[in-house]
Amino acid sequence: MKIREITQIALVTAVIIVLGMIPPIPLGFIPVPIVLQNLGIMIAGIVLGPKRGTVSVALFLFLALIGFPVLSGGQAGPAAFVGPTGGYLVGWLLTPALVWSSMSFKFMKQSWEKMTGAWIGAVLIVDIIGSLWLTIGSGMPLISALLSNLVFIPGDTLKVVVACLVGQRVRIPKINQV
Ligand code: BTN
Repeated sequence: MKIREITQIALVTAVIIVLGMIPPIPLGFIPVPIVLQNLGIMIAGIVLGPKRGTVSVALFLFLALIGFPVLSGGQAGPAAFVGPTGGYLVGWLLTPALVWSSMSFKFMKQSWEKMTGAWIGAVLIVDIIGSLWLTIGSGMPLISALLSNLVFIPGDTLKVVVACLVGQRVRIPKINQV
């Protein structure tokens, strides 16, 4: 890996951490807050691509796991990974790969089609993983978990648009931009 790639990865990890400093908004009906940090995860996937994006997110999650308070609201440590939001953290690790696989269908040529692909990978699949985790870990009925997750859709859709706009601005060689 070249110095330039390492720098790109570190910069995006820093962006994810900075976005985590914006306080989460707790919700009464689901033990999962609204956060801005997943915008950074989307940017990692869209700007850096599947490999570098995954390294960037993995680095961020590793820092959280070993106790650096980098998750939204200053959360950290293994407890965060086994708690109600653990499924989303798993989803975040998969996001760069999911975003790129769902954006790479041959028929997806227009920007809006690629954006839809990014939305499927970064929002739909992550929310489904998060809901399944809530059901298995917290005993919340799957249908309630899925319905509660609808509250995230408008904000997360806006984040996908922002991440795609960032992706169009920040052109990184060898990465096929949105
Ligand atoms: C954590 O900080 O431990 C993870 C928080 C996960 C929040 C999820 S990510 C997808 C959805 N959109 C949001 O704004 N919040 C949830």
